Amino acid sequence: MAVTPVDLNDKKILITGPTGQVALPVVEALSAIADVTALARFSDDSSRQMIESMGVKTVKADLADKATLANCPTDFDYVINFAVVKSGDFDYDLKANAEGVGNLMTHCKSVKAFLHFSSTAVYEYAGQEPRRESDPLGDNHRVMFPTYSIAKIAAETVCRFVARQHDIPTTIARLSVPYGDNGGWPYFHLLMMKEGIPIDIHPEKPNYYNLLHSSDYIAKLPYLLAAATKEVTTTNFGGSQATSIEEWCAYLAELSGFEPVFADNPKAFGSLQIDATRMHELIGETSMNWKQGIRSMVENLAPELIKG
Ligand SMILES: NC(=O)c1ccc[n+]([C@@H]2O[C@H](COP(=O)([O-])OP(=O)(O)OC[C@H]3O[C@@H](n4cnc5c(N)ncnc54)[C@H](OP(=O)(O)O)[C@@H]3O)[C@@H](O)[C@H]2O)c1
Repeated sequence: MAVTPVDLNDKKILITGPTGQVALPVVEALSAIADVTALARFSDDSSRQMIESMGVKTVKADLADKATLANCPTDFDYVINFAVVKSGDFDYDLKANAEGVGNLMTHCKSVKAFLHFSSTAVYEYAGQEPRRESDPLGDNHRVMFPTYSIAKIAAETVCRFVARQHDIPTTIARLSVPYGDNGGWPYFHLLMMKEGIPIDIHPEKPNYYNLLHSSDYIAKLPYLLAAATKEVTTTNFGGSQATSIEEWCAYLAELSGFEPVFADNPKAFGSLQIDATRMHELIGETSMNWKQGIRSMVENLAPELIKG
């Protein structure tokens, strides 16, 4: 049976990585019901202003540098860590992503629950076999993001270590493919299709993933927080329906009239379908139909590309 979701109304919530693709819709949604603080480096001041215009407080800090957290309050009910950096520099990326989650957790030790966003990029490639949480880890995304998988694995380890050291109820959610009205991987595919740019795909077809719409990941946050334990709950987090790149590009072609040009590349990311058993037990099924979600994304971002 799914956990009972926590009530986020009027709670003090810290969201890191607020300007990112995944977190921005969350900041928008939670700012309407809760007391939200957003933390990032905000190297671009306009992004800080954009977040503050939603009525959200901001903290300028670099998770790689513990000293910069001095100005960040500590009395949050919940912390949701979306921050991630993929600069390609191993020293910095391990410091920001892995030590960074440790710096954040030790700063906010008294939270009711800590939610760390990880990625299915932590799994070793295993063809079309749906990945379970206990499956082997590997350097899955090296070809495109050299530091990413290793830094995400390291971040999970630091997160578990600090949670257990300080008894912080924690959930690690391994995100599949997030998308929504602000874009995501399928939107990049649409732009490539429009320009006739070949889309690299792994030759072991079809290439399955679990598209997760922003409305679903927002709706599931109170469940993921409720699932937090001091021993740390680790769960896959994707849409309940698995879909392949080939299928979503075919649907994008139906919508836009632009045909995808696929290029077989054994080095491309291959299938990373999740085994959703644990996720369904903890937080239940997601509800957005992927075709409906993709249509809404295109209608919102590029209505002129919809044929007819
Ligand atoms: N997008 C996907 O397709 C996908 C798929 C699977 C999992 N995920 C996971 O979902 C989460 C969010 O990803 P995303 O794609 O939305 O990220 P993103 O668009 O790259 O945004 C990253 C965010 O983190 C902040 N940040 C980066 N380095 C920081 C640092 N050192 N200290 C503090 N803040 C920092 C950035 O703001 P500043 O630059 O201003 O600091 C920005 O707000 C990550 O955990 C990622 O691994 C994403």
